[in-house]
Order: sequence, then C-alpha cells, then structure tokens
Amino acid sequence: MQIYQAHIIDTPSPTRFRILENGYVGVDDTGHIVGLWHQLPDDLMSKTQDKSSGVTLTCFGDKMLIPAFCDLHVHAPQYRNLGLALDEELLEWLNKYTFPEEARFADIGYAERIYRRFVHELWMQGTLHSSVFATIHPHSTTLLARLFRQAGMGAYVGLVGMDRNSPDNLRNTTEDIINYYQSLTIDSNDEVRPIITPRFIPSCTPQMLTLLGQIAQQYNLPVQSHLSENRSEIEWVKQLEPDTVCYADAYRKYGLLGTTPTLMAHCCYSEEKEMGMLRDNKVTIVHCPTSNSNLASGIAPVRTFLDNGIPVALGTDVSAGHYMSMLRVIQYAIQVSKLHYAHSDGKISYLSMSEAFYLATKSGGSFFGKTGSFDIGNTFDALLIDDSYLNYDHYSLPHRLQRYVYIGDDRDIRIRFYHNQPLTKPNINND
Ligand code: GUN
Ligand code: FE
Repeated sequence: MQIYQAHIIDTPSPTRFRILENGYVGVDDTGHIVGLWHQLPDDLMSKTQDKSSGVTLTCFGDKMLIPAFCDLHVHAPQYRNLGLALDEELLEWLNKYTFPEEARFADIGYAERIYRRFVHELWMQGTLHSSVFATIHPHSTTLLARLFRQAGMGAYVGLVGMDRNSPDNLRNTTEDIINYYQSLTIDSNDEVRPIITPRFIPSCTPQMLTLLGQIAQQYNLPVQSHLSENRSEIEWVKQLEPDTVCYADAYRKYGLLGTTPTLMAHCCYSEEKEMGMLRDNKVTIVHCPTSNSNLASGIAPVRTFLDNGIPVALGTDVSAGHYMSMLRVIQYAIQVSKLHYAHSDGKISYLSMSEAFYLATKSGGSFFGKTGSFDIGNTFDALLIDDSYLNYDHYSLPHRLQRYVYIGDDRDIRIRFYHNQPLTKPNINND
C-alpha cells in the first residue's frame, strides 16, 4: 500500500467539502483507495517504517490533493479554434467556422498535429477523464483514441455521425458507421472506449439515427449528443421531427435517449416535459456555461435539473467554450447561476462552490466508473496542488481552495495521478 500525506479535499456529496487537514490517503497496488485518515493509525505508521511491510508513506507537506477533473463534453477537432470565432450564434458558427475546420481532419497528418496538442492540454489542465467528439473520419478518430491510451488517461472517444445539412466534405454514411464499429475491438475494461455520437438531430437523417440507436444497443455503448442548446436549433428540430413532443423525444424515438448511459449537452431550453423525459431515461445533462455564454445560447436551469433529480456534469464544449480548464467551467457555472438567480428575483438559488466542484469531479466521474472523489473503493485519480504563491498569508484551507478555483491554473498542478500512476507530459510532437 502507498500512503500519501497532504491536505485532502473532495466533495463526496454536493453540499459540502470534505477536508482532511494534514490527512492521509491509502492506495493499493491496483490504484484503488483503501483508506482515508485524519491521523495515521499507529500500526500503519509503524509499517511505514518497516521496508518489508510493503507500506510506504510519501509526505506532500502543505500541498493539497484534490480529485482530477472530468470534462464530459469537448470537441477535440475544434482545438485550433480556441478563442476564435465567437461572434456568431450556434448555426452560423457551425457553418462558418466549425465545419470547415473539422473537414481538415480527413488529413491524418493534420489530425495528429492537433490531437497531440489537445491531449497534452487536457493533461496539463488536470482533466484526466473526458468524453470527446472527434469527427466523421475513422482513421483520425482511432488515432485520437491511441493518443489517449499513450497518455494513460481515461476517455470516451466518439466518431461523429452526420449525413445531412452538412458540407459535402463533412458527411459520412450508415455504411461508414457500420464498418467503423465492426473494425473496433471493444473491451469494457479499457480506459479509452467508444461512444455513439450523433452530432445533433439536424445533422442526421432518420436512417443514421436509427442505425446509431441500434449500434448503441448491439455493442452496449453509451451515447452523447447536443440537446436544446439554441432557439433556432430547437425550431429547426420541430420542423424536421414534427411528430415529437419535444427535442429529447426525437432522440428517444431512435433509441438514443437512455437505452444505454446517455450524455446530453446544454439543455438551455428544456422545459417540464423534456425534463421529465430526461429524468425517466436517466440521462446526464452536461452543462457548458462558457459555451452557452460565448454563443449567446442561454442559461441552462441547472438548479431545476438538480431539484428534479436529473444528474448534471460539466463540460468545456471547446471550442464554443473558449478554455480547456475545468476550473474556468466551475467558475462560470457559479457566475452564470448567480445571474440566473438575480433574474428570477431570487427564486432560483445559485450554485455553491462545493456543488459546482462536485459536478466537475464526482458527478462527471460517475459516468466513467468509481472516480471523482476519494471515497474508499474509487480509483485514485488526483491532482497534487501547490498553491504556495497564492498562499502567502494565513489562509484557511476552504479559502485556499476557493482561490485556486477562481485564480489558480495549471501551473499549480505538481503531479497528476491516474489510477495512482503519476502521468508524464504527453508528447506534443510526433517523435
Ligand atoms: N451542435 C451541433 N454541433 C455542435 C458543436 O460542435 N458545438 C456546439 N456547441 N453545439 C453543436
Ligand atoms: Fe458541443
């Protein structure tokens, strides 16, 4: 067993931080957490002094250990557009900036150049689990999955399905999808796994949606897509699927809503009927507040989702979201919820720091397995934070964590543990 001493901070529940000041966490040989202590029991302490016991102690002193972050919605091929092209709303933004960039991923050399930087940046920001949209291109998508494996990080990687209302050079067919999934070896114990990824209803014909629903069931794979992000998009879906009662109903119709574990990003305009459908089908909503601000999409009613028992995780939605760090998404989730509170005349309460942190760690992590907090039995996926330059006076630990979330960044991360393995910096260059 390996034992680490540090200030150990996580959110086993949304309502409060669990803080072990000068605490200890024990991890077994398989990378699972076996103990969490305020003070190390005497028998363990003596074992750490006996080399033959197999128990080692590493002291991190005044540093903080927190769970690694989970980004449940991000577009790898949009990485080059980070911070660009945020002067349009969704549908214009897709046509003008996003589709042309994604079409470039037909070139595997280009894909490798950008995807290496993308995986490197997730590592840098301490996001060790992510659910990723790739493009329609099978070779580039397989390459992206390989880069995640090489980096030693967990991910869902989705080949995007799109066969209508898209440029000619950014469409695939149902045959392409069938061939791709037949070519994969799918191992449910793998840390990098495929996820069924219809782009959104306007991009997919009923044939494509039907097939993707069937494949999700046949291979028992999770599903991710976009839902009720923007008003023009929602109107368009009503025209395309006139026999549905809401946007989510269109996914449901094709077996893409909760038949297997499902992520739906945005939900800015989900009303009662849609919320009921999401809850009944155990869908996880991925809240992307940076994206929703940049594309002027709207404010997702996160408090109402939580009150209705709908699981919520957070996503950067790069490059509609302009920043890869989940710290910024936590911060925006809180800030946007405060504007929502003010606009509701104080009727809808805003998110607390512990709630937003929970969404970015334990809630997102539950989609991958037992990760996202330091509960016993979870895998040890953690960040060692050295905030010494922020902590120049006497700050309490809750205040140190708050300052790290609001004004800290990747420079504060000293070690990234994935299943207790310290991850080395992934190569940006192909060497
Ligand atoms: N809806 C369909 N495609 C996209 C995308 O790439 N980004 C966002 N934010 N919404 C979408
Ligand atoms: Fe998106």
